[in-house]
Amino acid sequence: MSLTITGPLRGSITVPGDKSISHRALMLGALAVGETRITGLLEGEDVLATAAAMRAMGATITRHASGSWSVHGVGVGGLLQPQTALDMGNSGTSTRLLMGLIASHPITATFIGDASLSRRPMGRVIDPLSLMGASFSSAPGGRLPLTMTGLTPAVPLEYTLPVASAQVKSAILLAGLNTPGHTVIIEPIPTRDHSERMLQGFGATLTVEETPQGRRITLVGEAELKPQTITVPGDPSSAAFPIVAALIVPGSDVTITNIGINPTRAGLIEVLQAMGGDITLQNPRTIGGEPVADLRVRHSPLKGIDVPASVAPSMIDEFSILFIAAAHAQGTTRTTGLEELRVKESDRLTAMATGLTAIGVSVEEHEDGLTIHGHAGDPLPGITQPGATITTHLDHRIAMSFAVASLHAKAPITIDDRTPITTSFPNFLPLMQSLGAHETHATD
Ligand code: S3P
Repeated sequence: MSLTITGPLRGSITVPGDKSISHRALMLGALAVGETRITGLLEGEDVLATAAAMRAMGATITRHASGSWSVHGVGVGGLLQPQTALDMGNSGTSTRLLMGLIASHPITATFIGDASLSRRPMGRVIDPLSLMGASFSSAPGGRLPLTMTGLTPAVPLEYTLPVASAQVKSAILLAGLNTPGHTVIIEPIPTRDHSERMLQGFGATLTVEETPQGRRITLVGEAELKPQTITVPGDPSSAAFPIVAALIVPGSDVTITNIGINPTRAGLIEVLQAMGGDITLQNPRTIGGEPVADLRVRHSPLKGIDVPASVAPSMIDEFSILFIAAAHAQGTTRTTGLEELRVKESDRLTAMATGLTAIGVSVEEHEDGLTIHGHAGDPLPGITQPGATITTHLDHRIAMSFAVASLHAKAPITIDDRTPITTSFPNFLPLMQSLGAHETHATD
């Protein structure tokens, strides 16, 4: 698949609901007694994998004709033994957060996933959850397939996160819900805080203190969660693709409504503005405990910058599309501190460096980042070798990044497999088409 344009991108779109918040809404709804109502749930494969797993463990989850969802939960401590292996597909968030939930329940579960997920490290959650009493057997290197047995009552833990990971933090917090006493997490580098916000929203006693060691999060265990009505804001990580598309296609003027701008997620907007991107936040408001705004994005000449490593956690999923913006900028963009990108759905540093090289962009790959020499607003060369394609490695964000790059290129940029896009952004193509993009050909 490749995209093309006959003019600027114009119009207003609404992207699907936030993936991180959608997973958490289903999980916490499944632990509350009574009906939790969710509107704006992301209906992507990753979130549907979470829904299927929660059903397999006793929750009743239904989709209404209106598009809203109901979850009837089993209560904290009430999850049931799943009868078959939990198939997590491509979803690291489903896997790691559910491992946390199961860790403090007296049940045994097996996790399986696709080739991408089966390569990803689970040791980062196995370690703290083992300290809480859960036991694990896994494929070599702490990988899927993995079978675990939880412990009730589990042992409360005080844990300093060795990697900046909201998934690890959330797994421990979810385990702490059915654990007596206080579960404490010290987070030296802040990561997305949706779990903390939503746990408080469901009535758990959770406090956050800023200390010299970092954020100290304390959850009082054996919590009773009260069902909620949740509106999921649009996913800033999905909005990132039309945002960069509008910045790089001459003459574009695009509005993306209802986007979550939680500061722990908004790093890309800050970095693109520092590069000269014309992005304005309109109508700021709070929805369901999360800050939200409409974004107006206009085509802009971009300049390369040194991206501070400290911004990485607040845009950890956005680097692949930032690299496409950098390829269009005037001058050089340098990124560092991105080791975590090597253990995402693909090794995103190598996948992006290889793909950028294939489309004629000069790039240097380092252990912890890329240095990209931009084309100063000119269309990128594209793929000149006949029949060559970009390899997406079962990674939705690699697929969408190069689809956006193809909007402003001299030769087509064809991606080998667009199917991974449905994990997080099922209507990516129709939305891009509504702004004026055309799909040129499909090889998949
Ligand atoms: C997520 C946390 C991040 C992010 C992922 C979603 C979450 O992963 O990359 O897409 O919902 O908690 P890490 O915790 O591995 O950084």
